[in-house]
Amino acid sequence: MGTSGKVIKCRAAVAWKPNAPLVMEEIEVAPPQKHEIRIKVIATGVCHTDLYHLFEGKLQEGFPAVLGHEGAGIVESVGPGVTDFKPGQNFKYLNHVCVSVGDNVIPIVVSQCGECRFCKHPKSNMCEQSWKSLSTGIMPEEDSRFTCRGKVIFQFMGTSTFSEYTVLNQIAVAKICDDARLDRVCLLGCGVATGYGAAINTAQVTQGSVCAVFGLGAVGLAAVMGCRNAGASRIIGVDINEDKFGKARSLGATDLVNPKKHSKPISEVLSEMTNGGVDFSLECVGNVAVMRSALESCVRGWGVSVVVGWTDVDDFSARPIQLIAGKTWKGSLFGGFKGKDAIPKLVLDYKSGRINLDEFVTHTMPLDKVNDSIELMKTGTCIRTVLNVSSK
Ligand code: ZN
Ligand code: CU
Repeated sequence: MGTSGKVIKCRAAVAWKPNAPLVMEEIEVAPPQKHEIRIKVIATGVCHTDLYHLFEGKLQEGFPAVLGHEGAGIVESVGPGVTDFKPGQNFKYLNHVCVSVGDNVIPIVVSQCGECRFCKHPKSNMCEQSWKSLSTGIMPEEDSRFTCRGKVIFQFMGTSTFSEYTVLNQIAVAKICDDARLDRVCLLGCGVATGYGAAINTAQVTQGSVCAVFGLGAVGLAAVMGCRNAGASRIIGVDINEDKFGKARSLGATDLVNPKKHSKPISEVLSEMTNGGVDFSLECVGNVAVMRSALESCVRGWGVSVVVGWTDVDDFSARPIQLIAGKTWKGSLFGGFKGKDAIPKLVLDYKSGRINLDEFVTHTMPLDKVNDSIELMKTGTCIRTVLNVSSK
């Protein structure tokens, strides 16, 4: 049937080396092997972690690579042993919805094999299989199905959605309903799920509580929305870029604070605003100084602070008395969600209006413009850019 079983030549944005623009290339995508799925990528968000790998990664290895890990698409073909996914090679658009015989899917960076100790434990989403690619940022070379100009191209975070086609193991693919806008629900593949889940699952924000969210990019805004949906009575958004305040307010923030406008430490400002500190704080920046401030902003006795922002560069510190005083400091990866189970439900929450994704999309452009989208992200002028990867 059509392209099934054959090598597909398609367009992809290749990162040949660190700190350089991506280059649009024709790449070859091999057919899916055992337990693998080849996906036609329809749309992808551009996330800060893509930039991190390109510009700030500790390991400046893993090039050439195809970046992108916040995508959505349709199943083009499946390898042996895949029974839960239906392939289909054609699609058409009807009111922004992609109509195809093939299942609609979202690749997930934190896989769910369902069999390892971590998948089986109700408290964890740290699937053992994910760490192969998460610890280095890239999938092992033998697992890559991409080549270009005679070279193997690495698959960033195992996903590589800046390509018209990509191949993933089925443990890292979530099947979703047939009628959701893929150019919106793609955001559930990383940023929005990460922030939303950090509030709901990791912090376990409670009804009537007071919360603070540090950093109002996509992840922070999603955390604000999570606090709101969990019933927080007061949600304080903290950011030095006041351009983000409007969106934060529309997603549920009740108070907005710019630390630059205060001469005292932000933890003191928040403590005064809340009679001794917030019940829950979420750090969505990836900056160790902010992580410390977020902890210090919590009320003693029961305050919970969650580290959501990603960094593996710096050590962090805090005075032990902060924890001795009864605060809890935790971290969250992919919002604590087990992806294959959770993403289909989050998609339904988007369709019912419980989760707002439209508010996050500030820019839309074709894949060819990926370098422009990276510039927008670097300068902080966007929340999310969605790239339309395949239009036919
Ligand atoms: Zn697992
Ligand atoms: Cu991401």
